[in-house]
Amino acid sequence: MNVLGISCYFHDAAAALLVDGELVAAAEEERFTRKKHDFEFPQNAISFCLKKAGILAAELDYVVFFEKPFVKFERLLLSTMQTFPRSHRVFRESMVSWLGDKLWVKNLVRKKLGIDSSRILFGEHHLSHAASAFLCSPFEEAAILTIDGVGEWTTAAVGIGKGTDIRLIKEVRFPNSLGLLYSAFTAFLGFEVNEGEYKVMGMAPFGVPRYKDQVYKLIRVSADGSFEMDMDYFSYHYSANTMYSRKFLSLFGEPRKHGEHFFTGKTGFPTYFGEKPSNYCELAGRNQHYADIAASIQSVIEEIVLKMAGYARQETGLTKLCLAGGVALNSVANVRIFREASFTDVFIQPAAGDSGGALGAALYGYHTVLGQPRKFVMKHAYWGKGFSEAAIDKVLREENVPHVCYDDKQKLAERVVESLLAGKVIGWFQGRAEWGPRGLGNRSILADPRRAEMKDIVNLKIKFREPYRPFAPSVLMEAAEQFFDVAEPERHYPTRFMLYVVKVREAAQSKIPAITHVDGTGRLQTVDRTNSETYYDLIRCFGDATGIPVLLNTSFNLRGEPIVNSPRDALRTFRISGMDSLVLGTRLIEKKT
Ligand SMILES: [Fe+2]
Repeated sequence: MNVLGISCYFHDAAAALLVDGELVAAAEEERFTRKKHDFEFPQNAISFCLKKAGILAAELDYVVFFEKPFVKFERLLLSTMQTFPRSHRVFRESMVSWLGDKLWVKNLVRKKLGIDSSRILFGEHHLSHAASAFLCSPFEEAAILTIDGVGEWTTAAVGIGKGTDIRLIKEVRFPNSLGLLYSAFTAFLGFEVNEGEYKVMGMAPFGVPRYKDQVYKLIRVSADGSFEMDMDYFSYHYSANTMYSRKFLSLFGEPRKHGEHFFTGKTGFPTYFGEKPSNYCELAGRNQHYADIAASIQSVIEEIVLKMAGYARQETGLTKLCLAGGVALNSVANVRIFREASFTDVFIQPAAGDSGGALGAALYGYHTVLGQPRKFVMKHAYWGKGFSEAAIDKVLREENVPHVCYDDKQKLAERVVESLLAGKVIGWFQGRAEWGPRGLGNRSILADPRRAEMKDIVNLKIKFREPYRPFAPSVLMEAAEQFFDVAEPERHYPTRFMLYVVKVREAAQSKIPAITHVDGTGRLQTVDRTNSETYYDLIRCFGDATGIPVLLNTSFNLRGEPIVNSPRDALRTFRISGMDSLVLGTRLIEKKT
């Protein structure tokens, strides 16, 4: 039986295809259109999934959409009516976009895929999130916690998964929303909403949470983690362009200007920012205030999700937890949930945000609606498009790229390690693209984590990221415990997907400074040979040479662009960035120095 899940029209459109209950393919639309966070109908992702399975759209048994458009439309209508006339603009814009395509998803799917209406099903946004985690987890039974910006009405839910069944037992509804609260601060701190949330998380360790009392003026939290927000401080419920009101500014002062460099006394002023301004100290002081605000909202979010998780633990009596929704990408909060809410195991799949809704919808349709037994566990993230050596060679030939072929993979690994040891930055393109927002060793940029200066070099040459954003380490599964504070690493699925931030062991911090954040932590990825053979062998080879089986790994993309998907994308990124070498499968391309 072929079941296709689709998510779109909000953030990150995606498609995922199950064949007889096994995931065959899953991908975000942005990877194909090269439009970051593309939310349009995922035509390219769907075509890819069908091709991967070797089927035609007509052979799909069911197509499941990740949410209920009419219920969502009802929420938009009611909330804009309640805030009218302030909401007149968002009301008008919503009408135009919703009465166009968004509302008529069934018709659209029918037309685009030629599927009969009876075979098109609709999930609910938070049920899709819940299903995206629980139904591909290794757990027969688990508590479920979903937290995001908003779905139809729900913004957070606690549920129970048992076999193929999922039941949500408690929910928080719009306009109360932890995701939107975090996004309001993301906007206030000068970043783009739905994009800059990671930056707030990265900025937090540079600050002191001295504004927590002010943050708690915005939100009243009960012991069970349910909460109510004072909407006078916000505007997202009636505005399409702003997140917070003037009253919000009375608590936190003027917002940080978008696009202005962020640096504090601790981050220093990186060379790639240009010349140090004459009023450096004054600017660093002002930025410290914003870092303190970032620390405060991060800390409050952690406290609230901990309460929610505590409630889920207590109310369900279950010791395993599945997490999903955009807030489940907050890897700092995730590890606190695991450690402090006394769950024995936590599962999160890599696309925990809205793209994951496509996977959840397919799983929900197949198992919960159709009652089919479970057999699939998501052990790795490599569900996107892959390219054969022949396809890579074709691109190299067409673009006339000088390269060296390494039929012996060990020799290739040795050559790459040699470059890494010489301080080079390597583009690493292997196998199938990752599902979710992180490059996990198939579409990655790699460097030597032992060199403190690598952070600045990677930023200077490729990423142009802010200095406070940490780079992540990939470590061999069996060595993870030696370098990071993570016991029994093979037990933890979130660390496979960079979804836990943990302490780098004291003794290891000076050994791998490029991946150790200012607070002594690292967002590690554990790598095992069964799921990631080529990447594992490369890290092992680096470990053989240095005694440290860890690499600095950042997603293979330029700032503001989606992760590369094809060899051609990789080649373009390689050419216009300062990367030194590019590995496409077994082909090595080196820049002339
Ligand atoms: Fe969501």
